[in-house]
Amino acid sequence: MSIDHLGRTIDYLRISVTDRCNLRCLYCMPEEGVPWKEHDSLLSLEEIERFVAVAAQDGISRIRLTGGEPLVRPGIAGLISAITKIPGIERVALTTNGILLPKMAQELKEAGLSRVNISLDTLDPEQYTYITRRGKLEDALAGIEAALEYGFAPVKINCVVVRSLHQDVLAYAKLSIDRPLHIRFIEYMPVGTSSGGEGHGWTADDTVPSDELIGIINDLAAKDGLGTLEPVAYNEAPGGWGPARYYRFPGAQGTVGFISPLSNHFCGECNRLRLTADGKLRPCLFSDEEFDVKTALRTGTDDDVRDILRHTLGVKPDEHHDRVGTERTMSQIGG
Ligand code: GTP
Ligand code: 5AD
Ligand code: SF4
Repeated sequence: MSIDHLGRTIDYLRISVTDRCNLRCLYCMPEEGVPWKEHDSLLSLEEIERFVAVAAQDGISRIRLTGGEPLVRPGIAGLISAITKIPGIERVALTTNGILLPKMAQELKEAGLSRVNISLDTLDPEQYTYITRRGKLEDALAGIEAALEYGFAPVKINCVVVRSLHQDVLAYAKLSIDRPLHIRFIEYMPVGTSSGGEGHGWTADDTVPSDELIGIINDLAAKDGLGTLEPVAYNEAPGGWGPARYYRFPGAQGTVGFISPLSNHFCGECNRLRLTADGKLRPCLFSDEEFDVKTALRTGTDDDVRDILRHTLGVKPDEHHDRVGTERTMSQIGG
């Protein structure tokens, strides 16, 4: 088992498989995209697989593939198939914008993918195109349908809440009532100009603390006769490895979760490391430090790779200390 220097069990690895994306969400990437990494600077699928095999020997058992948009990386289903077979790897999940799911859900299921989290910040078609700068809401909704149809479970939907966008949060939360959908409201992390989101004009005031949002949803739900959100016990929450806290409307099939990186630090229970598409291991989402795994994978032995993994665990910060800036865009780190 991997234990970091502060006693936290680290068994979850988020791997960004590409810095490219078919959308350009305002909070994540600039309009023109980030200068794409040269193909050679990205880890090959074989290199990713080898890293996972070494990490699995050290106690990593759960993998989440992220991007950019992981489904635009050619060969992604083959990678999933390969890493699900590595001894010690129990589950492989994916965070996606859903656009390519109708086309790819079947092969992903056959490859052994367990679960998907789908990013969707609004149910309003115009607002969706505004936030994503190019997406069509109907395509993302078709992705959610495909995820349900092909039996990925649980299906979670990530909604980044931005105060000045005035999203219809009740309409969104209501998606959890009639179908087994797990809606998660995420506090906007104002990663600032370094996020590549410059120009949208959002500030720290645009982060809506989760407790405030729960109050807003409960007020609106009461007017709608829906009752109030009730906390869901940990063992009844939709299987997760992440930091969400879950609630449920009375009688609902799904849940409403809240991810609060700013108002409720979950760093004390942090269970993860991150690998960037260009082969850097990051101890923390907001870390200044990254460690070069790619060179070890290209020129070293498995022991060299393991040394970097262990060194990274040894310097994993206790918390992000309200620093939410990073030199990298979210699309490069994978959220
Ligand atoms: P589950 O295992 O399904 O609970 O997934 P998850 O919530 O870990 O992953 P997902 O990719 O769906 O991420 C949801 C949100 O949580 C994104 O906005 C991430 O940026 C954020 N998030 C995930 N891990 C961390 C973390 O370690 N620190 C911070 N600050 N935010 C995180
Ligand atoms: N603040 C909060 N969440 C973000 N994500 C990307 N950028 C941000 C941000 N600045 C979310 C995406 C996706 C997940 C991987 O990270 O919406 O669901
Ligand atoms: Fe873990 Fe860093 Fe996220 Fe805190 S900010 S929960 S230490 S990855």
